[in-house]
Amino acid sequence: PESVLPIAVTVAGLAGKEPVQCSRDVMICPDSSLEDARKQGPYDVILLPGGLLGAQNLSESPAVKEVLKDQEGRKGLIAAICAGPTALLAHGIAYGSTVTTHPGAKDKMMAGDHYKYSEARVQKDGNVITSRGPGTSFEFALTIVEELMGAEVAGQVKAPLILKD
Ligand SMILES: *[C@@H]1O[C@H](CO)[C@@H](O)[C@H](O)[C@H]1NC(C)=O
Repeated sequence: PESVLPIAVTVAGLAGKEPVQCSRDVMICPDSSLEDARKQGPYDVILLPGGLLGAQNLSESPAVKEVLKDQEGRKGLIAAICAGPTALLAHGIAYGSTVTTHPGAKDKMMAGDHYKYSEARVQKDGNVITSRGPGTSFEFALTIVEELMGAEVAGQVKAPLILKD
């Protein structure tokens, strides 16, 4: 669909277009299955949300591995928040990078010593942006907007959000 937003977003579901029950019982209705969404790619950014079960599902998905490997291969942006970065570990993505995660996912992320760990609220290293949790999600999102559209557009998106300074 035509989007009035500066960035068109496709929410892709691992289990087709079926609604997904998230970790706090919010239901998300995907725009399309991951399979169909892939046919419309490549994308400027592949973003992995958090949630323990969701991150586990992402970690176990061969289709997600392929999407991430493709994105890494074309040096496209990859972003992950909360427990989401553990799916990067599971799929062997961005080893050697500096990353952050939800504090509760730190031990899992650092098992095997594949990353350098940061406690920044949003950490950018090369083509990988990671962040920590619900409270950092606006900063995370705005960092992605800035990366894709520049500081001016990020500022225009930020102003009406009424964030605390
Ligand atoms: C994770 O996968 C299970 C099994 O397919 C599914 O029942 C559940 O809804 C999924 N949850 C999330 C958040 O992806």
